Amino acid sequence: MSARAIETITTSRPVARVVTAESQLEGGGFPVRRPFPSPRLLQVDPFLLLDEMGPVQWAPGEAIGAPDHPHRGFETVTYLLAGRMRHKDSSGHVADLGPGDVQWMTAGSGVVHSEMPHPELLAQGGVMHGFQLWLNLPAVDKMMPPHYQDLAAARIPTADSPDGLVRVRVIAGESMGANALIDTRIPITFLHFTLQAGAYHEQLLGPGHSAFAYVFAGEVGIGSPAVRVVDGQAAVLGEGDRVVLAVDGGASEPAELLLLAGAPLNEPVARYGPFVMNTQEEIVQAIRDYQAGRMGQIRP
Ligand code: CO
Repeated sequence: MSARAIETITTSRPVARVVTAESQLEGGGFPVRRPFPSPRLLQVDPFLLLDEMGPVQWAPGEAIGAPDHPHRGFETVTYLLAGRMRHKDSSGHVADLGPGDVQWMTAGSGVVHSEMPHPELLAQGGVMHGFQLWLNLPAVDKMMPPHYQDLAAARIPTADSPDGLVRVRVIAGESMGANALIDTRIPITFLHFTLQAGAYHEQLLGPGHSAFAYVFAGEVGIGSPAVRVVDGQAAVLGEGDRVVLAVDGGASEPAELLLLAGAPLNEPVARYGPFVMNTQEEIVQAIRDYQAGRMGQIRP
């Protein structure tokens, strides 16, 4: 191994910038915290959007979701923490999601789907909390046939540090010896960390991959040098092959964060609502195809 290679493997990522999520309404009007996209941060290539849905306590009959709408040209990843959702789509796919479940939907050439509260949650009320991530597809895959990977919480690999202060759920990629079951089109890391007071973890991330962390409980010292990142903030990471996550020994609550990394596509992005393509012409075509019913419709 050359001296240069040794140098390369000891680069710990700094925090390049911190953005605070904006609160807004999405779908039929449910509350989300959205670190991006915003005018300050358009994307973290290949990641197009991250929404934290809720947490929101719905009264009986009040829960709101996202009724029938199309997608083309990218993937939507839903990760539910609390509550129950029912997803349906134009190919007849129906999936119920509960706490800890993941649905990785490759919209590809196009689907029409609905993302609604489960009928029981709607009737009884309850807490809904989770995430939706939009992950871009490379140009070569944008028109691939749509497909799903549904993963129940019990099948998501987890690992704990020897001192018990770090727990990770591995949705994509690898952490502490646990390997994800999800297949991704491009190399992606999607990890959910729960960090107790005094926790310290160094996570390897592909060199050259774009990476960010989103903290949704407590506060975490992220990067080298450490930057304090609090509930509702995303930290975009600079270059390196790993990142340090640390929680103060006197912290009054555990910290929770998502850590995401992926190989950047470095391709033009044309986005319009639920369509993400490479050119404006492809967007116009997507709108035409949707309006002509070529992305299908949800059968009642
Ligand atoms: Co959708």
